[in-house]
Amino acid sequence: MIQKVFPIRTSLRAPPYEGGAFADTLGRPLRDLRISVTDRCNFRCVYCMPRDVFGPDHAFLPHDELLSFEEIARVAGVFVGLGVKKIRLTGGEPLVRRDLHRLIGLLAKLPDIDLTLTTNGSLLAKQAQALKDAGLQRITVSLDSLDDVTFRAINDADYPVARVLEAIDAAAAAGLKPVKINMVVKRGVNDHQVLDMAQHWRHTGHIVRFIEYMDVGSTNGWRMDDVVPSAEVVKSIGDHFALEPIDPGYAGEVAERWRYKDGAGEIGVISSVTQAFCRDCNRSRLSTEGRLFTCLFASSGHDLKSLVRGGASDAELRDQIVAVWRARGDRYSEIRTAETARLHKVEMSYIGG
Ligand code: GTP
Ligand code: 5AD
Ligand code: SF4
Ligand code: SF4
Repeated sequence: MIQKVFPIRTSLRAPPYEGGAFADTLGRPLRDLRISVTDRCNFRCVYCMPRDVFGPDHAFLPHDELLSFEEIARVAGVFVGLGVKKIRLTGGEPLVRRDLHRLIGLLAKLPDIDLTLTTNGSLLAKQAQALKDAGLQRITVSLDSLDDVTFRAINDADYPVARVLEAIDAAAAAGLKPVKINMVVKRGVNDHQVLDMAQHWRHTGHIVRFIEYMDVGSTNGWRMDDVVPSAEVVKSIGDHFALEPIDPGYAGEVAERWRYKDGAGEIGVISSVTQAFCRDCNRSRLSTEGRLFTCLFASSGHDLKSLVRGGASDAELRDQIVAVWRARGDRYSEIRTAETARLHKVEMSYIGG
């Protein structure tokens, strides 16, 4: 007897990529989503938003171009369904976006994610507890110098370092731990303060990460000579306080971790220029206006906002994200040259760190 076989309706079958079983052209999964919530910032760091470019005449995105919190949360939910495990909010400065804790509350409902945020700290002291209460787990604060004169010169907004230090204390007191502290090291600007920075945060439980200055965007006039290789940073700290390497906390971690042998804590170095880490790069970036970028150094993104506002279903959004990811072959930091540094690239203040 011939048995009748009923075709399985595809809509009832789990798609083959549900939960992350898909990869880009270099075999890299999608695990990390970084969401920029604003292209604005109250600082004008010389290596990120130089004042002569980002002055009073600079055209920031109009408010109706920004994804709303509900739209961001919906898109993030689709990413989580595709296997994303970490969501980081960035900017510009994310805390200048009004009521950000409301977005945190929406994202905190997503299952099994590490939810964090990178901030310049200027608005953090007031918001730390509300962010924690809304479900933020930990935080990263940018701090390029402990010396007030140097710090004010870098942020170019005359913002005092003492206020960022207070904010870091407030974040820790609210339980946003571990606090990570990002220092971008630029030759001749703050490289002489690396040791001070390391020493200051020993025994605090906070983790300083020393970041090689990068050629993000097209406005910061980056030159290879400005880069302080991480090997130099590790050597200068290690000469004073013995260090030993430790294993990455998770696959594809950007920072290389080192621990003080005397038990005073750990530091990290982020060596995008001298030791590119594209091979394991599982990071996607959603811009403030809903474009999907597959590399920090991309020149353009893929429009998701039109889908969101055009009535697309979650399944259609998912298919689009998977198609973009499957076509991805980015590895900018591995192919960087003085020539590529001059190419047009999206600005860090637009896409986030
Ligand atoms: P954890 O989640 O705490 O491990 O942090 P993270 O490594 O994701 O750190 P964070 O977002 O603080 O990134 C630190 C810095 O590393 C950023 O500000 C960038 O300067 C750099 N960075 C992060 N992701 C990338 C990347 O995909 N490519 C390159 N080239 N640099 C990156
Ligand atoms: N190179 C390296 N890091 C940078 N950041 C901003 N611009 C650069 C650059 N050119 C860092 C900031 C902050 C994060 C958002 O990105 O210091 O920690
Ligand atoms: Fe603002 Fe951060 Fe850029 Fe500085 S590095 S201008 S704080 S977005
Ligand atoms: Fe990923 Fe691009 Fe950074 Fe390489 S340069 S690690 S591909 S974001």
